[in-house]
Amino acid sequence: MEKIIIEGGTPLYGEIEINGMKNAALPIILASILTEDKCVIEHLPAISDVSLALEILRSMGAGVKMLNRTTVEIDTTHIRGGNSPYDLVSKMRGSTYLIGAELGRFGAARVGWPGGCDFGVRPIDQHIKGFEALGAEVDIENGYIVANAPDGLRGGQVYFDCVTVGATVNVMIAAVLAKGNTVIDNAAREPHIVDLANFLNTCGAKITGAGTSVIRISGVEKLHGCTYTIIPDMIEAGTYMAAVAATGGRVRITNVIPKHLEIISAKLEEMGATIEEDGDSITISRLGDLRRANIKTLPYPGFPTDMHPQMSAVLCCAKGTSIVSEGIWENRFRYVDELLKMGADITVDGRTATIQGVERLSGAPVRAVDLRAGAAMLIAGLAAEGRTEVSGIGSIERGYDDIVGKLTRLGANVKKVYCSDENELREAQ
Ligand code: EPU
Repeated sequence: MEKIIIEGGTPLYGEIEINGMKNAALPIILASILTEDKCVIEHLPAISDVSLALEILRSMGAGVKMLNRTTVEIDTTHIRGGNSPYDLVSKMRGSTYLIGAELGRFGAARVGWPGGCDFGVRPIDQHIKGFEALGAEVDIENGYIVANAPDGLRGGQVYFDCVTVGATVNVMIAAVLAKGNTVIDNAAREPHIVDLANFLNTCGAKITGAGTSVIRISGVEKLHGCTYTIIPDMIEAGTYMAAVAATGGRVRITNVIPKHLEIISAKLEEMGATIEEDGDSITISRLGDLRRANIKTLPYPGFPTDMHPQMSAVLCCAKGTSIVSEGIWENRFRYVDELLKMGADITVDGRTATIQGVERLSGAPVRAVDLRAGAAMLIAGLAAEGRTEVSGIGSIERGYDDIVGKLTRLGANVKKVYCSDENELREAQ
């Protein structure tokens, strides 16, 4: 078992660099199935979800060569469809993109039911609605999603009932090689949607409107390979910003797109942090008291749900009462129980948490119940008095590249340990 041990109470100072965005990397890696040429993808985060996506491609017959820690060459010339191992795809949500990619390339797909963080029910009805609008027949058989378009996909009009990142990505991937024109209405507008469209267009696709709620795709015969660099991860950057807000200190965060961070920056400034922009870096400092704030998560450009647990951890340390409302997921509050162990004062009613700031959190053994919940535990541990032991860190490593190393460089007293039982903790190699 591995844990992260934190001795809290140290302000963070220094500089760190942000890695490529997980939620852009996953669709781009899987969309490389659409071309029979080689793709070189740069600035990948070294995280377990990316390793898993690459492992899935390998198991399907693709050539996958790491050129360095963050660059991969993918060759899908000999890839076959319908053969991705259930035990791999069922570990993450991003594997749903295999359906769009296999349908686009082979006119048929067979993919195990996707896993991912547990936020309550995570339906895929909008994905299915989109594929059907492109002429596919979709069934669920023995835990697999099976889609067929024997005569190939044809362009269609898709209107999503809710704003969904996953279905927007999936239908975009499927429509690129479909015959004719596709219009996706009520599309998600997240920066990773734009990044995927840029990747596909670099490969020869014809997509316009990504980043707005209407995306238009003119089907092309074929895509070619390309070299593409993934955008920086705004959620990784936001997580370090939240950590500095919680502990106090001053940190320069490089390789960011400040525009993507605007809503997070505005909220942290409302809470008492100061943020300076300088080209592709920002500097965040928090020297005075933390102030209460209300947060409601919404699709982009609203406040990101993937920053919700981290912000709740910060608000535990603010003066006054804050309200955090979750606008995307049915249940993203499983982290609250863990924060209560650290002395937080939080009540949850439906999709709303009321957080009464406390003088100090106190270190405790807690669990990373999902990826961003794990990040929230680290933030709470950094701000708390005493020692926090975070277990379940596999969830954190799904989405954060070298988080222990980066926090250590900022002066945090944090280390990863292996332990064979509760009484024996051995420092990580
Ligand atoms: N929804 C449906 N039907 C569908 C699809 C979605 O009702 O067919 C609903 C969901 O239940 C949810 C809402 O639509 O209420 C939004 O879901 P969305 O499809 O946007 O989420 P996702 O694609 O499954 C991605 C990220 C999540 C992030 C959400 C929202 C990836 C791999 N995952 O999930 O990221 O929370 O968008 O921004 O891109 C994370 O990185 O920690 C993470 C969980």
